[in-house]
Amino acid sequence: MHIAVVGLSHRTAPVEIREKLSIPEQTMETSLQTLRGDEQVLEVSILSTCNRLEIYTLVRHPERGISAISDFLGKHSGLAKEDLSPHLFNYHHDEAVAHLMRVAAGLDSLVLGEGQILSQVKKMVRLGQEHKSMGPILNRLLTQAVSTGKRVRSETNLGTGAVSISSAAVELAQLKLGQSRGEDQLVSLESELVAVVGAGRMSRLLLQHLQAKGCSGVMLLNRTMQRAESLSADFPDLPVECRSLDDLNHCLSTCSLVFTSTAADDPIVDAALLTQLKRRSFLRLIDIGVPRNIASDVAEVPGIEAHDVDDLHEVVSRNQEARQQIAREAEVVLQEETRLFLEWWDSLEAVPTINRLRASLEAIRAEELQKALSRMGPDFSARERKVVEALSKGIINKILHTPVTQLRAPQARPERQEALRVVECLFELDAPQEDG
Ligand SMILES: NC(=O)c1ccc[n+]([C@@H]2O[C@H](COP(=O)([O-])OP(=O)(O)OC[C@H]3O[C@@H](n4cnc5c(N)ncnc54)[C@H](OP(=O)(O)O)[C@@H]3O)[C@@H](O)[C@H]2O)c1
Repeated sequence: MHIAVVGLSHRTAPVEIREKLSIPEQTMETSLQTLRGDEQVLEVSILSTCNRLEIYTLVRHPERGISAISDFLGKHSGLAKEDLSPHLFNYHHDEAVAHLMRVAAGLDSLVLGEGQILSQVKKMVRLGQEHKSMGPILNRLLTQAVSTGKRVRSETNLGTGAVSISSAAVELAQLKLGQSRGEDQLVSLESELVAVVGAGRMSRLLLQHLQAKGCSGVMLLNRTMQRAESLSADFPDLPVECRSLDDLNHCLSTCSLVFTSTAADDPIVDAALLTQLKRRSFLRLIDIGVPRNIASDVAEVPGIEAHDVDDLHEVVSRNQEARQQIAREAEVVLQEETRLFLEWWDSLEAVPTINRLRASLEAIRAEELQKALSRMGPDFSARERKVVEALSKGIINKILHTPVTQLRAPQARPERQEALRVVECLFELDAPQEDG
């Protein structure tokens, strides 16, 4: 059995490739079932976010398993092998474990240390458990990744400063506004007529950062009005005008800065829509949706400046230096957590021998108990028989405790294997059956 991860991220693929691989929650069960149907795949779970699609898996054979997952990704995305392969990465065993720990901690994120990734890793665990695609190995690994993400955020300053894709999007708007005025710096958005399309988690963060950056008011559009109204109620100090998504044309005609962050599968704004509108002279669009909410052809429309999630690199790189030092502190925690998991994984080698030892002693216990009980005759009550049985089980458990702990304790592989051989020889345990 081998742990592996296959996928792509903002480091290896542009948004136009990433959006083709995105797996929404509604189709996650089908994807997990398809993957579980492959004879190479023993356990599997999928991390699908705007910046990455990663498939964590336990496979029978590393190369064949990784190839099966890559084939799935090719079919799922509809991309030809030669178009997809250059963007895919794969890691095996300790590298896969170390990669997951980095991802959960936010060290592999576009915005270093952002907090949303931890919720997304938790979601991967929940979906893997709900759809029963994970077994004990991935359960242990992914649960430990979640606790590592929490640990890094509580033991270092990585999580402080409320960093997110949304805060970077607001900063990009400030930077672009500054640049349009000939200043290469972040400027106040006070003068802008701002709209946010979508009322989910990312839009909530957008409103938080817009408020913090001096925005004087926001038009908030959403498919479901009630959700927009409920979100706006959480910002009593920010004037928010809630509108239905049916007013998108009005919004695009009147606003100067529009953020889009909906989970729509297809673009909701394209060049054809924008050219038919009577717009004010200039419109800046910042789209953090993946799949993108704004079609790439809008760049051709005069008076439009459009940015997608990949353009956030420009602001992110300006802020990262200070966070790099904190990231180095986090690496220490990640290395320790990776080592702990790998020690647990190595200790699994002892499990078949321990199980056979336990079964052997249990057989002796059951046989001897049976003989003793038959010698006792009818004078003993059921309660007394139960006491004798519990006594026999207690003795076996006590005898096994120390050797089992020793066999599973962290140690070099040759030493563990030698200890296992000794136990198998002393107790005449049958050789394990090879798994076909
Ligand atoms: N979560 C993250 O960390 C993160 C980071 C960066 C980018 N993103 C991207 O940002 C977008 C929003 O993410 P989120 O986490 O905020 O999602 P979310 O909390 O699930 O909210 C989804 C929003 O999209 C709207 N929506 C869904 N389907 C729609 C459709 N077909 N047409 C119009 N509106 C639709 C929903 O409207 P209703 O209220 O009417 O359902 C809701 O406002 C996604 O594309 C995501 O990939 C997310």
